[in-house]
Amino acid sequence: MRLRNIPGAEEAVAACPFVIHDPYSFRGRWAEIFGNERPIHIEVGMGKGQFLFGQAEANPNVNYIGIERYTSVLLRAIQKLDNENPPKNIRFLCVDAAELNDIFSENEISGIYLNFSDPWPKERHAHRRLTSDAFLARYDKILIPGGTIEFKTDNRALFDFSLEEIGVSHAFEVVQFTCDLHRTPQLCAGNIMTEYERKFSKLGKPICKLIAVHKKNDIA
Ligand SMILES: C[S@@+](CC[C@H](N)C(=O)[O-])C[C@H]1O[C@@H](n2cnc3c(N)ncnc32)[C@H](O)[C@@H]1O
Repeated sequence: MRLRNIPGAEEAVAACPFVIHDPYSFRGRWAEIFGNERPIHIEVGMGKGQFLFGQAEANPNVNYIGIERYTSVLLRAIQKLDNENPPKNIRFLCVDAAELNDIFSENEISGIYLNFSDPWPKERHAHRRLTSDAFLARYDKILIPGGTIEFKTDNRALFDFSLEEIGVSHAFEVVQFTCDLHRTPQLCAGNIMTEYERKFSKLGKPICKLIAVHKKNDIA
């Protein structure tokens, strides 16, 4: 994601009622934000929000929280909000996902989406990858048993790393994967494209996807 210092971004994000500015105070109480007990799914590293908006529209009975650490990027998502008729099932957080466990409590989240996560190719940065064991340990704490992680990327090295990390994890199990999503009808049905997915598939790059399930507590 190319970052620019956008004048007014901080102010616009601060003024947006759909951005939760003190997410730590809602730990264990996110249902109150939405005013219902519907399942909550999060997208970590949501970028400009195309996927999140599509998911929320297609699934009105699910609540979605988009997490993005840069205001300049989040600004692009909130600019897409229809202020006349805003979706009731979306909120945004501008935080680093390393803080997930300070924001959500045990079993508070039913689904996690990781789309085109930054690859952090240097080995010494591996712990920053959103599918590293460090992040899987954070997801383990907040996901319900049977909850899912859905991960898409064009980066084969990151995908192979992710399959390996999840493969050795005691908390998650890969139940489906493909290295060419757009040619795998059973995984591509209902697929909502992200900004990066659109860009890379236009260049002819195959898209990899995996779905991992959070094992039940007693066998994790
Ligand atoms: C390569 S972009 C992909 C954006 C979008 N998901 C897509 O597929 O079009 C990765 C995004 O994740 C965000 N990101 C990366 N690490 C993050 C973290 N630890 N916490 C929150 N956001 C993060 C980046 O700022 C960037 O906007």
